[in-house]
Amino acid sequence: MSETLNSIAKRSSTRGYTTEKLTKEELDILLTAGLQSPTGTNKQEIFFSVINGDDPVIEELEQEKMRLRNANRGEHNAFYEAPTIIVLSAEDDFRWSAIDAGIAVQSMALAAESLGLGSLIVGSVYDAMRADKRNYFKEKMQIPAEKDFQIALAVGHKAMEKEPHIYDAAKQVAIV
Ligand SMILES: Cc1cc2nc3c(=O)[nH]c(=O)nc-3n(C[C@H](O)[C@H](O)[C@H](O)COP(=O)(O)O)c2cc1C
Repeated sequence: MSETLNSIAKRSSTRGYTTEKLTKEELDILLTAGLQSPTGTNKQEIFFSVINGDDPVIEELEQEKMRLRNANRGEHNAFYEAPTIIVLSAEDDFRWSAIDAGIAVQSMALAAESLGLGSLIVGSVYDAMRADKRNYFKEKMQIPAEKDFQIALAVGHKAMEKEPHIYDAAKQVAIV
């Protein structure tokens, strides 16, 4: 199997990380994979904010997420205490922004897998990011004013292994 196919097959969501930080080289590789991803009309509109998992803004975002849900803080934050979080933002009024962000985040997840790192695509902070009328989180994450949260990636060294998800091709595929 090719390395690409192997990474696709082996990637699965990591919901437990060690405290080991990513090296600068690993981070550069992940960001390059995001930047090399295709975008509709080659607009290259996705903005990538790299945030340390222990930056106070991450806990503040978690508190806001739980406040909006009227729920108590759970054992883990949305990013499962990953050492690095990459937030992808883009203009909502560009037709392909959400798809472009989805492609870029998966490129980075596959790059992480190929480096032996774990990752988790995280959408659960969407409401907290979008309800932020003062742009507090956007400013902390240096997101340009015209762009808004699309999706995020938690990444770090795996503290757990999880088998890839089971799927049922008969339900999801038609060879027409
Ligand atoms: C758009 C999107 C948003 C997601 N958001 C979250 C999330 O907020 N929290 C979480 O734990 N997993 C999240 N996931 C991970 C999915 O739950 C996971 O991909 C799915 O259960 C399949 O498992 P696998 O990634 O191990 O194959 C998200 C995945 C996608 C594609």
